[in-house]
Amino acid sequence: MMKWKIGNVEIDNQVVLAPMAGICDSPFRTIAKSMGCGLVSTEMVSDRGIIYDNTRTQEMLQMTEYERPISQQIFGSTPETMKKASAYICEHMKPDIIDINMGCPVRKVAIKGHAGSALLKDPDKAYKIVCEVVDTVPIPVTVKIRSGWDEINALEMAKLIEDAGASAITVHPRTKEQSYCVDADWSIIRDVKNEVSIPVIGNGDIRTCYDAKKMLDETSCDAIMIGRAALGNPWLIKQCVEYLDKGTEPQKPTKEERLGMIKKHSELLFERKPEKVAISKMRLHTAYYLKGLYKSGEIKPKIFKTTTKEELFDLVEDYIKILNY
Ligand SMILES: Cc1cc2nc3c(=O)[nH]c(=O)nc-3n(C[C@H](O)[C@H](O)[C@H](O)COP(=O)(O)O)c2cc1C
Repeated sequence: MMKWKIGNVEIDNQVVLAPMAGICDSPFRTIAKSMGCGLVSTEMVSDRGIIYDNTRTQEMLQMTEYERPISQQIFGSTPETMKKASAYICEHMKPDIIDINMGCPVRKVAIKGHAGSALLKDPDKAYKIVCEVVDTVPIPVTVKIRSGWDEINALEMAKLIEDAGASAITVHPRTKEQSYCVDADWSIIRDVKNEVSIPVIGNGDIRTCYDAKKMLDETSCDAIMIGRAALGNPWLIKQCVEYLDKGTEPQKPTKEERLGMIKKHSELLFERKPEKVAISKMRLHTAYYLKGLYKSGEIKPKIFKTTTKEELFDLVEDYIKILNY
């Protein structure tokens, strides 16, 4: 197992769960952790939501001991508000790492809010924000970037982020303008790794354990981060951990394991979220858990009509009987 560190935080392996808004809540992170994930990231939360004590933001900030080490991501556009938000989080939530979002392309965040990927257009402000947060909190600060806004400036940004005192950097090598339309350009991860001496986490288009190994080999990054491919497929995390550690070939989950995971995920959601939120999230996750399976397209509309977890389980139990593996 390749252990590594972000600042003084020890991480058991090189597999990191990506921050994903609406997805990486405490139940999802718990599932990722149970698959052996080395480091889990939260969904992004707004600095202002934290400062103004927004109820939904407070709910999003909940975390458990089991999830450690955990990286809490925040986004914002001024050094002052990011300072206040990071101080609050450290005092009240005590994550292991604070991650600053400099990649979000969503209109509300980047265009209206001048935060997320918009900071890539304003290196001076980005630098000040990182300095301020680093000076404020007693834990390591990391930054997640895209490769640029419309033009690539990942190397310049990475150097500046390191100079500002960040302890690691995550690179998702697509510009804001590219959104998800082109393949992630892993050569940018390699270039950033050559440019800085802090750890670099590579991200983008890892769909199999072989991709994970390929990214590590091609870029020499310190760890790999998995986003979309973990949706409905947390087994990928375990497959990456075991393949990187021992070269173990991946095993497809059985249908019983799939059903068990859906139930476990539901229990966690219903335990930790208000009922309405839990069922709505679980409908989405169930659709992901069944995506690509035989005739799963036919059951999807029915999933989205369920109103209780019992109804959802009955539907899935009936469906998996028709699967012959
Ligand atoms: C639904 C969804 C939500 C996301 N939310 C965030 C977020 O809150 N913060 C962030 O830095 N990136 C966010 N991302 C981007 C991912 O962290 C990751 O950089 C991107 O999906 C590329 O990795 P992948 O190819 O493994 O999915 C999100 C992506 C998705 C699909």
